[in-house]
Amino acid sequence: MKVLITGGSGFIGSHIAERFHNEGNEVFVVDNLSTGKRENIPFIDDAHFYQENVQNHELLTDLVKTHQFEYIFHLAAMVSVVETVEKPVESNGDNIDSTIHLLEATRQHNTNLKKFFFASSAAIYGDLPDLPKSVEDSNVNPLSPYAVQKFAGEQYTKIYHTLYGLPTVALRFFNVYGPRQNPESDYSGVLSIINQKFLNKAPFTFFGDGKQTRDFIYIKDLLQAIWIVIEDDSTNGKVFNAGTGKQTDLITVFNAFSDYFGYEIPYSFTDARAGDIKHSYSDVSPLKDLGFRPEYDIMKGIAAYLKYNQK
Ligand SMILES: NC(=O)c1ccc[n+]([C@@H]2O[C@H](COP(=O)([O-])OP(=O)(O)OC[C@H]3O[C@@H](n4cnc5c(N)ncnc54)[C@H](O)[C@@H]3O)[C@@H](O)[C@H]2O)c1
Repeated sequence: MKVLITGGSGFIGSHIAERFHNEGNEVFVVDNLSTGKRENIPFIDDAHFYQENVQNHELLTDLVKTHQFEYIFHLAAMVSVVETVEKPVESNGDNIDSTIHLLEATRQHNTNLKKFFFASSAAIYGDLPDLPKSVEDSNVNPLSPYAVQKFAGEQYTKIYHTLYGLPTVALRFFNVYGPRQNPESDYSGVLSIINQKFLNKAPFTFFGDGKQTRDFIYIKDLLQAIWIVIEDDSTNGKVFNAGTGKQTDLITVFNAFSDYFGYEIPYSFTDARAGDIKHSYSDVSPLKDLGFRPEYDIMKGIAAYLKYNQK
């Protein structure tokens, strides 16, 4: 089976690539390595790796025409909210233009498709107070170019099913964590930053009171969610939340690291960042109806993450 993954050398894309590869499939990756790393996917040979921008529409169209992929995963994106605020036009190209061009190339030329998958984000919900966030019942309120672009991408993905019958699906990722997450990127996730601080025995600063909550989902649970939606025809044209449905505050996360490492590091509190959302967690009942059973609570997930890093 042939699979195309844009953003396949990033954190999440590399795990998808690894699973398909391990299951004996032929995996192609397009990634400009802006935030990803070639060494995340050593199992992909150079003949299957294209260090290119997803805005190279000609290349992507050629790949789609030539290989007739069964699965296409579109994960490449300008992932930093801050960067999209600084570069609204460029990020629109990376995050929206690339999506519609890839959908269109797939519609026109790919006759073999089982699923086109789009990586959306919980950022689209913005700061509205209702909880948990539900795809059916919550309003969206994008507060950055990134969030606008993710919403546009998932909605294009959706209407390519309703208008043209393309088998598509999108997941709104909540806070994904696990091995290969880049601790240096500004929105890489607070867990990898706390991990770095513990490794270096460096002080950690909480923005705000540390009681802000997030729905942290371990990469293996995310993969479970992805595989459920890509293998089920009833998900075509739909959008799902991908979280665990549980709220965890940052102090609890910090203490879990402290327990695991067996020592404390200095910490302090500073002002909350402007625009930071205080609480967020997902309603994942539609995914659970399809069989989704997250296996990693925050303690188990952090332990698995740290164990992998030690290796
Ligand atoms: N990690 C999370 O918690 C999270 C949450 C919500 C949504 N997402 C979405 O999931 C997807 C994967 O995120 P990730 O956490 O693995 O981030 P990542 O930065 O590790 O992966 C993104 C990959 O896309 C590549 N890329 C970026 N712009 C590109 C371009 N113009 N052309 C080609 N390649 C490009 C990067 O080099 C990188 O390998 C992204 O679309 C992101 O917006 C992630």
